[in-house]
Amino acid sequence: YPIFAQQQYATPREATGRIVCANCHLAKKTTQVEVPQAVLPDTVFEAVVKVPYDHSIQQYAGDGSETGLNVGAVVVLPEGFTMAPEDRIPEDIKEEVESMYIQPYSDEHPNMLVVGPLSGDDYEELKFPILSPDPKEDATVHYGKYIVSVGGNRGRGQIYPTGEKSNNTVYNASTEGVVSEVVAGDDGGSIVRIQDDAGNIVDNNIPPGPQVLVAVGDEVDAGEAITNNPNVGGFGQADGEITLQNPARVQGLIAFFAIVTLAQILLVLKKKQVEKVQAAEMNF
Ligand code: HEM
Repeated sequence: YPIFAQQQYATPREATGRIVCANCHLAKKTTQVEVPQAVLPDTVFEAVVKVPYDHSIQQYAGDGSETGLNVGAVVVLPEGFTMAPEDRIPEDIKEEVESMYIQPYSDEHPNMLVVGPLSGDDYEELKFPILSPDPKEDATVHYGKYIVSVGGNRGRGQIYPTGEKSNNTVYNASTEGVVSEVVAGDDGGSIVRIQDDAGNIVDNNIPPGPQVLVAVGDEVDAGEAITNNPNVGGFGQADGEITLQNPARVQGLIAFFAIVTLAQILLVLKKKQVEKVQAAEMNF
């Protein structure tokens, strides 16, 4: 959950560019981002994070029952960009945005936003309304081109903040040896008993969800997978580029184009005039 990231990490993006959700959501799946190529200061725009997946598949819930997937996302905006204030969110997405409960990552980082978990069937596209800063009002903000990093996730994670595995991941043999017994566990899962070389029997508790792939008599190495990987979800990250555009530059460019166009027209008119004079002076 995004809250796990907020509790564990000061910022959601590591120095390497990796987004921290990937530390617990181990499978990789596509995530896409759409942002405008350029925005003017003090303007509200939309950043869209797409978390596509096959909605016909189900995953295992904590108790081993089957359930749909939920989605969540994190958006790391350039310094100064924030979530748009309520009264400036465009009417057409207002209702949707209000039901999403987008939150700043922390008080220190209002330019980083998180959302989720949300039902993946309702929110495959997550729309973030964003307000661009104004360099005239905030001296720390500058016009220029910036990176927007997003992470998008569908499905349950594999590791809890405590370091424990969830039941939505592969389980491995704790020791080398021979499988002596596979029995049902109290929690609805199973217990794989492995007898090591010294004759000790070691219990490997498998929660409900992952399917046991070994049978009595199988030899296993320490760390070998003894279940399948039931995870059908995954996390992905993507970068977009956005330019905080100085309106004076656009105006200057348009003025320059107008002057060039005018100069070209005047040159043509002058040429026509010279041609007329030349024609008048011509003697046949
Ligand atoms: C569950 C998103 C970071 C561990 C989920 C779910 C979402 C999500 C949407 C619900 C999935 C479902 O029910 O189908 C995210 C995002 C993260 C993030 C966007 C980054 C901002 C983390 C981190 C950890 C973690 C850092 C580990 C410390 C888990 C676990 C679950 C889970 C274990 C399953 C919980 C359960 O159902 O018992 N996450 N997550 N997540 N997440 Fe994350």
